[in-house]
Amino acid sequence: MLRRPRRNRNSKTIRGLVRETRLSTDNLIYPLFLFDGKNIKDEIHSLPGNYRQSLDNILKEIESCLKLGLHSFMIFPAVAEELKDKVATYSYSPDNFYLKAVTEIKKRFPETCLISDVAMDPYSSDGHDGYVENGKILNDKSLPILTKMAVAQAEAGFDLLGPSDMMDGRVQAIREALDQNGFTETGIMSYTAKYASAFYGPFRDALDSAPKAGDKKTYQMDPANKQEALKEAELDTNEGADFLMVKPALNYLDIIHLLKSNFDLPIAAYHVSGECAMLTAACRNGWLEFEKAMPETLLSIHRAGADAVITYFAKDFATMRKEGKV
Ligand code: PBG
Repeated sequence: MLRRPRRNRNSKTIRGLVRETRLSTDNLIYPLFLFDGKNIKDEIHSLPGNYRQSLDNILKEIESCLKLGLHSFMIFPAVAEELKDKVATYSYSPDNFYLKAVTEIKKRFPETCLISDVAMDPYSSDGHDGYVENGKILNDKSLPILTKMAVAQAEAGFDLLGPSDMMDGRVQAIREALDQNGFTETGIMSYTAKYASAFYGPFRDALDSAPKAGDKKTYQMDPANKQEALKEAELDTNEGADFLMVKPALNYLDIIHLLKSNFDLPIAAYHVSGECAMLTAACRNGWLEFEKAMPETLLSIHRAGADAVITYFAKDFATMRKEGKV
């Protein structure tokens, strides 16, 4: 036998020399759920270890993450039912607690990268990402609402906007509105290939944002489709996106690889709530070992081609890294 691949696995040091992929805390984005009020920290029952928190606690959370070298956060608002309406007015209202909180976070911690969610569902009495009329989600009537929301988020101080709504043409509409309002520096992390997935359940629990009727299949992508992800990526690239995102991550590693191989924009992957909940459940049952299974999972998403990984395990990974365990 002339070729013995095992020789390059002989010791920890040799394995280190030949390691092809390295995941750093710099690649991670930590999602946080913001709740209006004070001194609130409610655990999300279907996503243990994650909380809906008021701004005072979010500030503490961010401070402790920064000490671990974790600098990027995706922030989602949990909006009270009485503030929701058909046209998501609250999403750009001047007294929106989410927008005010972001300004405060950015003032306290200017070194953070804060990423928003652009979609109507947290503010919509219909629980859909776009505007609903007679049971239909109307694309072109959603665009002006999403655009107003986006400009308000840029004004509040977000570094990157994350349109997760999957309406056609929204990246261009948002890019143009940002530029017209002087926000040429605010970037767009587009949810490019966002699938109509069964793995968003715990997130919708966290925000009480599940659709009141119907599902999201007329705007989110069919899990069976791959070619279509290329089309969405081409559109988002031409419309001015700065990042292309694939969501969910684990069941869609082929899509992450496909976009990474075909486009020169950075790729983000969203390791979504249901994916994290599955792993947490197995670990809490003693069926898997968290400190091994979790880093392997995040590494796999990065190896598939994701430059940035959005994950509810970001802080756990950063903690393990700080302790030299990974
Ligand atoms: C809403 C949005 C969703 C997620 C991020 N933004 C839910 C949905 O589309 O229903 C899901 C994230 C997760 O499950 O972790 N536009």
